[in-house]
Amino acid sequence: MKLAVIAGDGIGPEVIAQALKVLDVVVPGVDRTEYDLGAARYHRTGEILPESVLPELKLHDAILLGAIGDPSVPSGVLERGLLLKTRFALDHHVNLRPSKLHAGVTSPLSGNPDIDFVVVREGTEGPYTGTGGAIRVGTPHEVATEVSNNTRFGIERVVRYAFATAQARRKHLTLVHKNNVLAFAGSLWQRTVDEVAVEFPDVTTAYQHIDAATIHMVTDPGRFDVIVTDNLFGDIITDLAAAVSGGIGLAASGNIDASGVNPSMFEPVHGSAPDIAGQSKADPTAAILSVSLLLNHLGNTEGAVRIESAVAKDLASRAGAASTVEIGDRIAAIV
Ligand code: IPM
Ligand code: MN
Repeated sequence: MKLAVIAGDGIGPEVIAQALKVLDVVVPGVDRTEYDLGAARYHRTGEILPESVLPELKLHDAILLGAIGDPSVPSGVLERGLLLKTRFALDHHVNLRPSKLHAGVTSPLSGNPDIDFVVVREGTEGPYTGTGGAIRVGTPHEVATEVSNNTRFGIERVVRYAFATAQARRKHLTLVHKNNVLAFAGSLWQRTVDEVAVEFPDVTTAYQHIDAATIHMVTDPGRFDVIVTDNLFGDIITDLAAAVSGGIGLAASGNIDASGVNPSMFEPVHGSAPDIAGQSKADPTAAILSVSLLLNHLGNTEGAVRIESAVAKDLASRAGAASTVEIGDRIAAIV
């Protein structure tokens, strides 16, 4: 396996070190290339994603990313120039974000055994395309427009992935949107779900508005198996999903090119957390679980399950605060 590693900013390098420690136990001898990208590189050379990097990344089987973003760089510059640019350039149209409340984990919904769902977030469209603009900037009559792009092609491929994911699980797919207001896109999403549903007769479907879905994710999360939604709704609801399933320190994700043409990129949902960087306080579990998603994507289901089980075991027996390295060591020891 050829793995590209972008540890990035803040707590990124700390959590990635632990994720690689666990990977080394499960799959020894991975051929790794580390890419020095993020705030430090930007300050040193002015580069965010040098031209040569994308073609190089494409030569790998997968990418493991820590976190991007730093208070010393204006908000959004690195996120757009590195993270979003890579997702778009490598056609990561599926943003896969599973949520499971493990035994022993405290959450605002602790004791609720029913949190076990996957959000399939569209990754290359919606309002993330950068379409729009502003006129009369700085005047009292300034107008800012952000366009949400939704293509039949883009929706269909992510919806098909979501159906297949549901078919391998509890066979229930919920489309989350806001079709009472966003009627054009809402209609296209719904029609696409209805049409693809014919290929998956054993999967039941439901629809929820995004606002109602946030209520149900808190009051009745057991109703969700797989959720499919657009890029922005998916961004927001997966932070809520992380919060109810043990916090952002446990939430893993995959940015997937389901066509297999480009390498997929796996990363914790959390950001660079500059306030706790360098203190070995960050929970590396999300990064470690991202390695599990990575192995699963590459067909090493046995390795993926090993990591997930080791994490579940460790979570069930956690007592008191542990350092980043301690958690990594413990999981690496039992994996
Ligand atoms: C995420 C993040 C990114 C996103 C930001 C950093 C651009 O919030 O991965 O969820 O909005 O997709
Ligand atoms: Mn987000």
